[in-house]
Amino acid sequence: MIIQGGERLIGEIQIAGAKNAALPLFIASLLTDEPVHLHNVPALRDIDTVEKLLRIMGITVDRSGGDATIHAKTLGTIEAPYELVKTMRASILVMGPLLARAREAKVSLPGGCAIGTRPINLHLDGFQALGARITLEHGYIHARAKRLKGTTIDLPLPTVTGTENLMMAAALAEGTTVIENAAREPEVVEVGEFINQMGGEVSGLGTNTLVIKGVPGLHGTEYTIMPDRVEAATYMVAAGMTRGNLFLKGTQPQHLKAVIEKLHEAGMEIYEENGGLRCLLTGPIKSVDVKTLPFPGFPTDVQAQLMAMMCLANGLSVISETVFENRFMHVGELKRMGADIQVEGHSAIIRGRGELSGAPVMATDLRASASLVLAGLAASGTTEISRIYHLDRGYERMEEKLRAVGANIRRVKE
Ligand code: UD1
Repeated sequence: MIIQGGERLIGEIQIAGAKNAALPLFIASLLTDEPVHLHNVPALRDIDTVEKLLRIMGITVDRSGGDATIHAKTLGTIEAPYELVKTMRASILVMGPLLARAREAKVSLPGGCAIGTRPINLHLDGFQALGARITLEHGYIHARAKRLKGTTIDLPLPTVTGTENLMMAAALAEGTTVIENAAREPEVVEVGEFINQMGGEVSGLGTNTLVIKGVPGLHGTEYTIMPDRVEAATYMVAAGMTRGNLFLKGTQPQHLKAVIEKLHEAGMEIYEENGGLRCLLTGPIKSVDVKTLPFPGFPTDVQAQLMAMMCLANGLSVISETVFENRFMHVGELKRMGADIQVEGHSAIIRGRGELSGAPVMATDLRASASLVLAGLAASGTTEISRIYHLDRGYERMEEKLRAVGANIRRVKE
């Protein structure tokens, strides 16, 4: 990606369907042998990966534009292979529905990850509590259960995909499952609502106690995926960093309260306008301190983008990452662009210098890549970002969307 920085972004951007909702919904479609119709499916590489994963299992997936029909009439294999799991950790989500429906699942152990160790122990402990036997064989987690039986699971951490995985398994278990300290993210709520539309009985969505009454079977349904709050937040920051004025169409402000509050503090104007959010900045960027937290706190998936913005402030800002260890891969690259950032444990201290300068940089993970694009848009001169395949995992047509609002950005073959 080659960016000539310095253009103000002005215009309208349509926000796509949420990656982190679409992935579990594709997979939750395994819970029924009837067709499921999904709308507002984003065009992302992670969605292609989940499609491949479902096809390997003998499931029919038809995609056309933003629509997808998934029909898991019968399950062929119950295995998620290493080749796919290593490119997309969220593949672990097949474990819950497979256990629920086939009583067996084999999923490759995900292995290392650019943003920390990211274990899946809480998923596995939960499945065991529901009655599954778990073994590790040749790099694969093999889970088997004669039957799944409702129980109380108290999560030591409110894991997002862990809560989704256990909720999907519990939906078809015998009796009632209570998940304490459950994740409250809007995407978790979406999975619960989807299960309920299929005839499931999940209550407490959006709170930290979920009660799931197991039902004998679920039926097909039709569902429109919520807008992507991380994509929206990324473009909000883009408006701020380029002193632009963007209208983000199709956002859900109630999912973005913590981000909007922080960006207000940083000097941005953000307000609701028919069916979207108007985001602009006219004055200086102010330094703010941020601590990432589970929802409704400030999302870790927007930490890197906010850090890029803080490099443009004139002052000191402290960003603490409490959700993931080692999620500061972007720091070294931002430093190449002239940023003054010092990492101390879980915190990054940013001495904003009011400017960044274009440089060749390398993308390391999805949101780190987004922060480099933002930095490039605001920097003086040319920024060349390599390994941008990370971006395609989670941002739909990013350079097209940015070009349409005035960015000087293009993709060239590496
Ligand atoms: C999901 C999101 C990701 C987001 C993250 C936190 C998807 C597909 N991905 O990831 O974009 O950054 O939530 O909002 O929805 N943990 C354990 N053991 C486990 C599971 C998690 O110790 O079994 C820890 C993790 O290491 C991390 C914390 O719990 O420190 C939260 O992780 P989790 O919520 O599970 O993240 P994901 O669901 O993987």
